[in-house]
This record gives sequence, C-alpha cells and structure tokens, in this order.
Amino acid sequence: MAQATARAHSNIALIKYWGKRDSSLNLPAVGSISVTLDALHTTTSVHFSSEWPTDRVELNQAPADEKTTQRVSRFLDIIRQNAHIDERALVLSANNFPTAAGLASSASAFAALALAASTAAGLSVSPAQLSEWARRGSGSAARSIFGGFVEMHKGRRADGRDAVAEPLAAADFWDVRIVIAITSEQAKQTGSTGGMEQSKNSSVYYPAWVDTAEEDLSAMRNALLQKDFTRVGELSEYSCLKMHALALSGQPGLLYWNGVTMDVMHAVRNLRRQGTEAYFTIDAGPQVKVLCLPEHQNTVEEALQQIPGVLRLITTRPGTGAHLLGEKA
Ligand code: DP6
Repeated sequence: MAQATARAHSNIALIKYWGKRDSSLNLPAVGSISVTLDALHTTTSVHFSSEWPTDRVELNQAPADEKTTQRVSRFLDIIRQNAHIDERALVLSANNFPTAAGLASSASAFAALALAASTAAGLSVSPAQLSEWARRGSGSAARSIFGGFVEMHKGRRADGRDAVAEPLAAADFWDVRIVIAITSEQAKQTGSTGGMEQSKNSSVYYPAWVDTAEEDLSAMRNALLQKDFTRVGELSEYSCLKMHALALSGQPGLLYWNGVTMDVMHAVRNLRRQGTEAYFTIDAGPQVKVLCLPEHQNTVEEALQQIPGVLRLITTRPGTGAHLLGEKA
C-alpha cells in the first residue's frame, strides 16, 4: 500500500504516566492505566511517494510548523527503516476537537499515524508492535492503539520491546462516562515531555513516585476488573493528585491548573458529599475530566456548567482502538 487512512481515539490516564527511564527510545519509568475516549479522535492519512523531496505535514488543513513536521518526520523514519523504503510522505491529519485545548492530542495523533504510516508502507503488524512504535512518538499514544481500558507496561528491556500497552477490558465492558470541563483554550506553557524531565531531575518526590507505581497499578487493575466504581474513582483522583504533587515539587514547580480547574475539583468533591459519585482526573493542563456512572451524567453536567469560567463540556464514554478507514495501492 502506498496510501492509508487511520483513526485513533484519545485516552485519559486513570493511573498516570510521568517520567521516563530512557528518553531516546521514550521508555516510561512507570506503567499506566487509561480509558480510551470515544468522542475525541484524530484521522490521519499517509501517502508515500518517490516524487516528493521532503515529508509534508498538514494539521487541521493548515501546514504544520517546523517542530511538528520534524517530530512526524523522525517518527516516519522508524516506519521507513522497518519497511526498507525511503520515500517521503504527505501526512494529512485532523482532530475532531480543538488541538490547543490540551486534550492529549499527541496520544490519538501518534496512534493514528503509526497505523496509517505502517499500512501505507506495506507493513502488516501486530497491535503490540504498533503500540511500541506509537510509544516512540508519544508515551500515551501506545495506549490509544487499544480501545476500552488499557494498561501500559513500563517494560524492563533496554530495547523497549516490552514497553507496550495491552487491553485490560473492551470498551463495552463497562459503561462509564467522562465529562470533560474545558477551562482554557490556550496552549500550555510546559508540555508533558519537558515537564516530566523537570520532575525527574529536580523533585525529591520522584524516587517515591517510581517506587510506589506498581502498587497503584495493581490496585487499579483489580478495581477495574471488579467494576468497583468507588475504588476506581478514588484511585484515579489519588494518582492525579500524586502526579501533580510531583510536578509542583520540582524546581521550578509546575502549575498546570488555573483557578477554574480548582473550582471544578471542589465542585466534584461537593457532588460526592451530596451523594453523587464523581471523581476528577487532570493531565498536564487545566482541563478537568470527571468520571461518573451513566445515571449521574446529567447531575454532573449541570453542576459543572454552572461554574463560572467553565467554557464548555464534552461528555464521552469508552471508545474503540485505532482502526483503518481506507487504503490504496
Ligand atoms: C500527564 O505521552 O504526552 O497525560 O511520552 O513525552 O510524549 P511523551 O508524554 P505524553 O505524557 C502524558 C502525560 C499525562 C499522563 C498520562 O497520559 O499518562
């Protein structure tokens, strides 16, 4: 195949990835557990041709900046090496959600790119191999290869063959809802890659974060498989606050929240006090993702909508893994 189009959905980590054991192969220092999000996806086509002198990348119908083009080009080099080709590519990628809103666009982007590029290059590989390649683009992208509830392994090998994600349960295993409160549309100042490096190099909490990761993963795995919503929610909030405590304790400390982020966190805890089970989780940005059961979706949405500064809500359920939409010779 010289051309292929793939779609992958974004994901939100319930047990967070923060820190790398090797930057060059992008190997995580800790495992993570996520849920793939149905409502947020990236669609990417890759077309290899010997007629083009360089790789070209378009994001949401506009030429990508130099930095993004280089990141995509480096990723395509991995695929070219494996497929033994050297054609350059035209990459057209579009998100169905605002890229600047910090909704983990690199996760869906590199998962879709891994599948589209490898297919266009004529490779037909296992999901584990795709996950390994997606990880090279972005750690969280390794999880977006799979749908539903997913665990990413930190792996032990130096070559990263075992630093891949695997599905824990399919999207239809458990109907949970994630209500995303958008509190800012501005691009964040420190991305995840730089942020986690800073925590590793300067926080005294970092060794404790790495040492206790396995306990959190195993507790979440058990709670998820038993559909114990209270435990899943508590563990999600715990891992989120633990990751942010780590980011806050670096030098300089990283403040990913704004005032509205904080208001939403308090509102979620108020809902719980009033008997509505809802739990928050937050990535390296100001948006808050609130986990609840379907019967509480309306109550959660109504409460969050009333908070001044919440710009809008996106509600979603677990989604499917990366899949092909089309291919051409
Ligand atoms: C806070 O996957 O964006 O969202 O591997 O450097 O590209 P890189 O980092 P990235 O980090 C995600 C961090 C997080 C938590 C998570 O998704 O597990």
